[in-house]
Amino acid sequence: MADMSVKIAGVSFKNPLIVASGCVGFGREYAELYPLGELGGISTKGTTIAPRMGNATPRIAEGESVILNSVGLQNPGVDYFIKYELPWLSKQGTVVISNVAGSEISDYIAVCEKLNDTAVDMIELNISCPNVKHGGAAFGTSCEAAAEITKEVRAHCKKPLMVKLSPNVTSIGDIAAAVESEGADAVSLINTLTGMKIDIRTRRPILKNNTGGMSGSALLPLAVKMVWEVSNRVKIPVVGLGGISKWQDAVEIMLAGATAFQVGTANFTDPYAPIKILSGLEKYLDDNRLATVSELTGKLRIWE
Ligand code: SIN
Repeated sequence: MADMSVKIAGVSFKNPLIVASGCVGFGREYAELYPLGELGGISTKGTTIAPRMGNATPRIAEGESVILNSVGLQNPGVDYFIKYELPWLSKQGTVVISNVAGSEISDYIAVCEKLNDTAVDMIELNISCPNVKHGGAAFGTSCEAAAEITKEVRAHCKKPLMVKLSPNVTSIGDIAAAVESEGADAVSLINTLTGMKIDIRTRRPILKNNTGGMSGSALLPLAVKMVWEVSNRVKIPVVGLGGISKWQDAVEIMLAGATAFQVGTANFTDPYAPIKILSGLEKYLDDNRLATVSELTGKLRIWE
């Protein structure tokens, strides 16, 4: 059987599948269905310095092959996470990635400093949430702001630092290069694409926030293209996400240049999707006589 392990920024993952932030909470509900130790890693719900109730409801709307969310970073805050979630999560035998969010650079720094001496394996710096008035995507949509927050956080963060990028930009390659130049160890992409869904009876947006972030299988071609673009631009590892719901999608995103990949929205329609993707990927590697999963990374044969 092929070797499924991958390494990102010195952290060893038993396989390249990470469940994506915001789609599995802190893992407890999914642990009732399968051992989390079967996963390469888990990225936790975006965690902020203080607890947040999130945006007003409705904050989920469904479309064809997509959902829109405007959750607004609801989470119990970093102190709660460290005291009540991390002790359990860190014993599940999977890499723990803490997705960190905030309104000001000082918030991100404060969260990372609290996580410095904990069992968290890696930070995913969320500079791409489209649903908050302050912070979030505001940091991730200009090269200067993305570089500045990465530099400041890097100076205070002892953990490997992965920066989560927004697709709502003109050049995601430029943003990736900017965060790499200021010390990011890896990048993950893409976060959600902004969108709107309208109730034609009331003529109002369904989301109380009016707009939200779109995710789901319709996003896969955009994610694949952006992963390809970024992996040709930076030397640090790229973690691909956006619309991955089956093993074929995982193969595509790795061929485009991803070292590992995240599965998000697919968990809502099939909570066993990660397990099915892993077994399909293993079979594909064996059928193609590949000894390691890493042999897929960047092996796209582009037309000249
Ligand atoms: C949210 O909580 O609004 C979504 C988080 C994100 O898109 O990063």
